[in-house]
Amino acid sequence: MPQDIISVVNQKGGVGKSTTAHALGIGLANKGFKVLFIDLDGQGNLSYMLNADMQKSSVLDLLMRKAKINDVLQHCQRADLIASTPMLAGADSIITATGKEYRLKEVLEDVISKYDYIIIDTPPSLGILVINALTLAYSAIITAQADIFSLQGISQINETINTVKQYCNNALKIGGILLTRYNERTLISRDIAETLRKIASQLKTKLYKTTIRENITIKEAQSTRQDIYTYAPNSNGARDYQEFVKEYISIPRG
Ligand SMILES: Nc1ncnc2c1ncn2[C@@H]1O[C@H](COP(=O)(O)OP(=O)(O)O)[C@@H](O)[C@H]1O
Ligand SMILES: [Mg+2]
Repeated sequence: MPQDIISVVNQKGGVGKSTTAHALGIGLANKGFKVLFIDLDGQGNLSYMLNADMQKSSVLDLLMRKAKINDVLQHCQRADLIASTPMLAGADSIITATGKEYRLKEVLEDVISKYDYIIIDTPPSLGILVINALTLAYSAIITAQADIFSLQGISQINETINTVKQYCNNALKIGGILLTRYNERTLISRDIAETLRKIASQLKTKLYKTTIRENITIKEAQSTRQDIYTYAPNSNGARDYQEFVKEYISIPRG
């Protein structure tokens, strides 16, 4: 079995989910682990960063049982990927049959044991795709930005996680909350980080020690479709994510 299956979640967009999924997965691959990425967001940001072949069958074909696992698995430079498609935007009206929460888990049953880590990027919603991601996962990482709307959204995602835990996946754990795009120079950021720490403990989870600073190099790396460690190994972006990978694997799951 894999060491971990991680869903990166937050129903808010622009809070660093795709960036974190990518940097965490590549960071783990760089440490020698075998990694599978799954891109469940129709925007396809993670697939883009990994230079996916978008002509190939997607995760939606797999979920609808129109394609077999070997038709959708892509072997990227450092890791494997099951890519997204813009059609995922309609998933909530397509995937409706009884047992719909378990689709992803079912279709991946035969391959998950081949990987050390499976990293799932999710769309900014609380729909069926996020539920499928959480039903398969062992851990959820909530990414959040230091703003008031992020704080408000966290109890909502926490409720979804608890519902999935109760009905579909009692092994699911919130790994923690990762503060991203952090600007340490502003007072409001520091205040919000403090509030976030309190919220995390109320939700019986934690704020990761590592925070990811706002760093333009991260955007530059993405626009050249390189990972942050290759593009700018000494940047704050690379350092912060490297630190996060180290922190993540140092924490025993459970
Ligand atoms: N630490 C960071 N510093 C600067 N820009 C970032 C950082 N993390 C993410 N971004 C940028 O913010 C935007 C949203 O990030 P993304 O990972 O796509 O969020 P989400 O997947 O939650 O929508 C992207 O343009 C990305 O390049
Ligand atoms: Mg995204």
